[in-house]
Amino acid sequence: MGAATLDRTASTQSPVLEVLAERWSPRAYCDQTPIDEQKLASALEAARWSPSAYNNQPWRFLVARRGTEAHAVIVESMAEFNQQWAPQAGVIIVAIAELENEDGRQFATAHYDLGQAVAHLSVQAHHDGLFVHQMTGFDAAAVQSHFDLPERLQVVSLLAVGDQGDAATLPEPIRERETAPRERRPVADTVLVDA
Ligand SMILES: Cc1cc2nc3c(=O)[nH]c(=O)nc-3n(C[C@H](O)[C@H](O)[C@H](O)COP(=O)(O)O)c2cc1C
Repeated sequence: MGAATLDRTASTQSPVLEVLAERWSPRAYCDQTPIDEQKLASALEAARWSPSAYNNQPWRFLVARRGTEAHAVIVESMAEFNQQWAPQAGVIIVAIAELENEDGRQFATAHYDLGQAVAHLSVQAHHDGLFVHQMTGFDAAAVQSHFDLPERLQVVSLLAVGDQGDAATLPEPIRERETAPRERRPVADTVLVDA
């Protein structure tokens, strides 16, 4: 199935913003097109303006474009499954939580704030026509050590960002997952108290 014909729009119980219904995490990325620098800048800008406790902004990113040494190092750290598809994306972003600042002040909600920044990044990217796929299947310690990051900066996840590719080029069983129905539990099972 070609990229253009793959409709992954969520079937929602209530109306949501189009960009939220249409966002999804593909594994077929175009390995030819370089990352659109303006769109990448906008995605990082969206993360920049996300809220955080005390406005601490306890997130950092490493941006590694396909073809660079940094990219190769990050790809090497990936679990085998992710190595089969993620390297094709135009850029891999490493998402980092700042657990404490240089003066030793701890940021208790660093992971929460980082996750929200990544959410904003991914929604902006999708709005602009880029696709984002988050990953924790990788050796975070290897990335931490290669880039010589201090302990207070904790490598948390990777984001493949780029143009959508053709699902037909994916190896099975990844190809099948690319077109399998997208599912979520009902809202009623998530809202524990609805007083
Ligand atoms: C924190 C996190 C870690 C993830 N790790 C992986 C991963 O290592 N490999 C992978 O293929 N997908 C990974 N995913 C993607 C999820 O499987 C995907 O977001 C989920 O199935 C929902 O699909 P959707 O994003 O298309 O709605 C991860 C997603 C998140 C948020």
